This record gives sequence, structure tokens and C-alpha cells, in this order.
Amino acid sequence: MKHKSTDRAKDDVSHADSRGRRRFLAATTAVAATLAGGLTDLWGDEGREPGVPMRPYGERSTFEKAARKSSRPGPLSGTGSTLTPLESLYGIITPSALHFERHHSGVPMIDPDKHELLIHGLVEKPLVFKMEEIKRFPSVSRIYFLECSGSGAGEYQGDPAPTPQQTAGLMSCSEWTGVPLSTLLREAGVKPSAKWVLAEGGDASRNARSIPLEKVMDDVLVAYGQNGEAVRPEQGYPIRLIVPGWEGNINVKWLQRLHVLDQPAMTRDESADYDDLLANGKSYRFSFVMEAKSIVTRPAGGQHLAGAGAYEITGLAWSGRARVAAVEISADGGKNWRKAELQQPVLKNAAVRFRLPWNWDGNEAVIGSRCTDESGYVQPTHEQIIAARGTHARFHYNGIKWWRLQKSGELTYA
Ligand code: MTE
Repeated sequence: MKHKSTDRAKDDVSHADSRGRRRFLAATTAVAATLAGGLTDLWGDEGREPGVPMRPYGERSTFEKAARKSSRPGPLSGTGSTLTPLESLYGIITPSALHFERHHSGVPMIDPDKHELLIHGLVEKPLVFKMEEIKRFPSVSRIYFLECSGSGAGEYQGDPAPTPQQTAGLMSCSEWTGVPLSTLLREAGVKPSAKWVLAEGGDASRNARSIPLEKVMDDVLVAYGQNGEAVRPEQGYPIRLIVPGWEGNINVKWLQRLHVLDQPAMTRDESADYDDLLANGKSYRFSFVMEAKSIVTRPAGGQHLAGAGAYEITGLAWSGRARVAAVEISADGGKNWRKAELQQPVLKNAAVRFRLPWNWDGNEAVIGSRCTDESGYVQPTHEQIIAARGTHARFHYNGIKWWRLQKSGELTYA
């Protein structure tokens, strides 16, 4: 039966809600009728063969196909990056098997029994830790996002990515477990002249980055756990640094050495690379923080809507500067904005899931999200970023991403 208020409520979120509920109720009634009519069929022997055997290590259903995609293969095998399929995820945690990868020289296979971590430089006593010694220190588990500063780089050069995975898939979020780096440094005794810590990875690239001591003593983790099990080889097994809210490159994987210094080491990775070129030809010396960003993951580019009616607009927001305060959604290219609901808990330096019930009237729509964090920073538009940094920049792209929904139900980038 067509309800009178249905037409009036076309654009009204709460009405979209109740319409959805009515449809659900109608479907439930239909199931009840089927049950009453054909109970014996359901109790028959068909489809009662024993299932597959149990497995020592779980796998997802063979019907699930979400996969990492390669974004830019490097010159050597195993180098380059793969992207997380953000549009296929629920909640805020990225399954470890779908965590994005960025390797400068492939994934080293490290035997944890042989791995050691050296702390030296401006310390009272240089120390070498074995893995079993690191695990004896009091540990913490924290949910943090990790984003490569190259995420969305193509958008600078007027090459808009067609799906959430392709524009923002260099961002993932995990629960990391490990020892605060401050604990290990206190064990070694930091000298008063110390100001920076150089962290070096044990892969062939020896990716090495200098971190201000203040940040190190605040919240940096030496992580050996990821989503309840050991850190994956691709993520830095057996140990990696997690530097909450800061650009991916500084989260050194396969961590083998910490050199305590009185100034930054100015390694290749922090001088020739990973610096932000500005429109005036100058560049920032360091740009550590990943600023507020958000992306609608459904409905989004590469997807198709079956027809007008009730949908949920959902996506992810994050900020390395402060907690996410609000996410607004527009379905008309930015003329009108509505506040989305933020899924609790909203944690500092973690991804935040946002949602908004929406009723599509069948006309063309342009859908996007805008994140504001508790420092008052508002996610900029694409035009604002280009005005500030020009089109030669490669890092820290966080512009609002728009998806165009056509009358046919097809979604592309706007
Ligand atoms: N650490 C080492 N030792 N070697 C690397 O190639 N890549 C860095 C960083 N740490 C890298 C590294 C870069 S550029 C990023 S974005 C993150 O690790 C990616 O972490 P992930 O592969 O776990 O997603």
C-alpha cells in the first residue's frame, strides 16, 4: 500500500528511516507466511550434507572477493604499494590481510629469534634488545590509523581516482599492541642533550627517519601485535614503529636501530623524499601530521545503485592533529550539508566510521563528505589545496572527494 506521506518525505532523513522500517516489516510478514505454508520443506533432508572440515587458521568465505590493488609497482619485485579496498570494509578496523602496503625494497623475512633492536647515541647505556626481552615490558593496545602521505597524490595532478580504494586506499586502521618507545628509552637513559631519535628499518632500503624526542616520549609505540596477532610481515614483522597520526613513512617497519641525536639526521627519506613542495617552489622541511580527511565509501565511484529509495551514506574520517569532531555530508555538490552520525568510540588518531540515512529521489546527485577535527581544522576543498600547493605537490592530499551519481544509478568521480 502506498502511504500518503511517502512523497512528501522524499528528502527527509527521519522519514527515510521509517520507510525503511516499514519495508522491513513487510518482508518479515512475507517470510512468516512462507513458513506457515511450507514448514515441512525447511525440515527436509535437502542441503544437510556435512560442511567443510575445521581449519587451524581461518579464511574468509570464498564468496568474498575484496582485495588489495597495486597502485604503483616499483622497479624491483616487491617494491611499490598496494591499496586497501575501503569500500568493502565495515566499521573502523582494516583486516590485517587487507592493510595497505608500501615497501621501498620488498618484504624481508625476519626470524624473530634472531632479530635485535639497538638503542645507542645520546644515552647513558647503549642497549640491544631481543624480541623476548621487548615482550617482557608492560604493553599497551591502541587503535590507530596509518596513512601514507602519498595517499591521493594523483588528485594534485588533475587525475581524479575513480574509486575510494584508488583515491584513499593508502590508509588503514588497526589495533596495534606493543611497548611505548619511551619505556625502552628510559631503560637506556636519555641524555639531556638529546632532541631527536633516528629510527632505521632492517629491510634493504634501510628506511630511516628522525622523530622529535617530544613525540617519541608522548605516544610512539614499538609494535609487535596487529589486530590481535603478530604484526604481518608486510607491516613490519617482528617489530615496527607506530607514530600515531604522523605520515606513514615515519612508521618505520622491521625496526632494528634507534639512534638518539641532538638534531635530525636529514636522511634521504626526509630530505630528498617525503617533503611537501609548495606552489611558490619552496617546500616544507618536515610535514609530519596527517591532517583531517574523510571519504564517502558507499555510495561511491565504481558502484551502482539499484534505483531511487532509501540508502545509507557511509564512510571513514580521520585526523592526525586532533580527534574528529564532526563529519558533514552533501548530496548536492556542497550547496547543503548535513551532519553525519559518528560511530562510537571516536578515538584520537583512529579512523572514525560515519553514517547518514539518505533517500535518493532518482535525480543526479553529487555526494561528498567534509571532516572537522577538535582543533577546528576543516578538510579543504580540492581548489583550496591547489591554490596553496599547486599541482607539483605529491604528498598530504586531503581535499574533499566528490562522487557523481547519475540517474542510471552509476557512480563515477565528479
Ligand atoms: N619502513 C621500512 N623499513 N621500509 C619501508 O619501505 N615504508 C614506509 C613505512 N615504513 C617503509 C617503512 C612507508 S612509505 C609507509 S607509507 C608505511 O611504512 C607503510 O606501512 P604499511 O606497509 O604497513 O602499510
